Amino acid sequence: MAIIIKTDEEIDLMRKSGHLLAKVHEELKAAVCPGVSTLELDEIGEKTIRALGGIPNCKNYEGFPASVCISVNDEVVHGIPSADRILQEGDIVTFDTGLIYKGYHSDAARTWGVGKISEEAQKLIDVTRESFFEGIKKARVGNRLHDISRAIDDYITPHGYGIVRELTGHGIGTHLHEDPMVPNYRQLRRGVKLQKNMTICVEPMITMGNRKICWLDDDWTVVTMDGSLAAHYENTIAITDGEPEILTLEWS
Ligand code: MF3
Ligand code: CO
Repeated sequence: MAIIIKTDEEIDLMRKSGHLLAKVHEELKAAVCPGVSTLELDEIGEKTIRALGGIPNCKNYEGFPASVCISVNDEVVHGIPSADRILQEGDIVTFDTGLIYKGYHSDAARTWGVGKISEEAQKLIDVTRESFFEGIKKARVGNRLHDISRAIDDYITPHGYGIVRELTGHGIGTHLHEDPMVPNYRQLRRGVKLQKNMTICVEPMITMGNRKICWLDDDWTVVTMDGSLAAHYENTIAITDGEPEILTLEWS
């Protein structure tokens, strides 16, 4: 599949899709507290997506059973919401979710602390988020795709954290996953030239320990092999003439 460059009209629709998704993340964040189950959080996510006129794009994606991937502590991504999974003070929780609006997808992930968390856990969350912003500084016409990857790696690696390699960011548009893949670690080649109106998801997945991951028997939940904490931060962005536009950013 080739990279699909969007028209300005398509970017408008993706901007709208992204703004709605930012609201969903605001609602999810506000609902995080000790004692809430990940199933309740998924229900809040799905209700909000539908109330805003969107369609959840995770639900039934290759059989995924929920609208929000909810991953706790050593779970990296694609945790399945469950009534039995109750958030505890000190946990960290990642929401990875997206929606379709008028045929256009948006996709974003956030990691939050539950109540008071350790300084180390907060630092992992902060550095993961910062690495996204370091990466997208390179997301400009004139640069290559893997300049983004290298910038993320250069920011994360001195912290001693692991960068997950088996999962990457991706193009996005009328499909949740389009070309190109967007790795979060240094590549041998510079990758494709960035062009105006390319739309991609940049989504570093960072571990406090070793970068090695494995899949649980549910075939979805990705966990760190060493049991260390993991954080994830993702936005859908559009390449422009100047600074990249982040389509899924909350304003509050
Ligand atoms: N939102 C995820 C991504 O970043 C995809 C989730 S697929 C699901 O690409 F099926 F697990 F929901
Ligand atoms: Co994504």
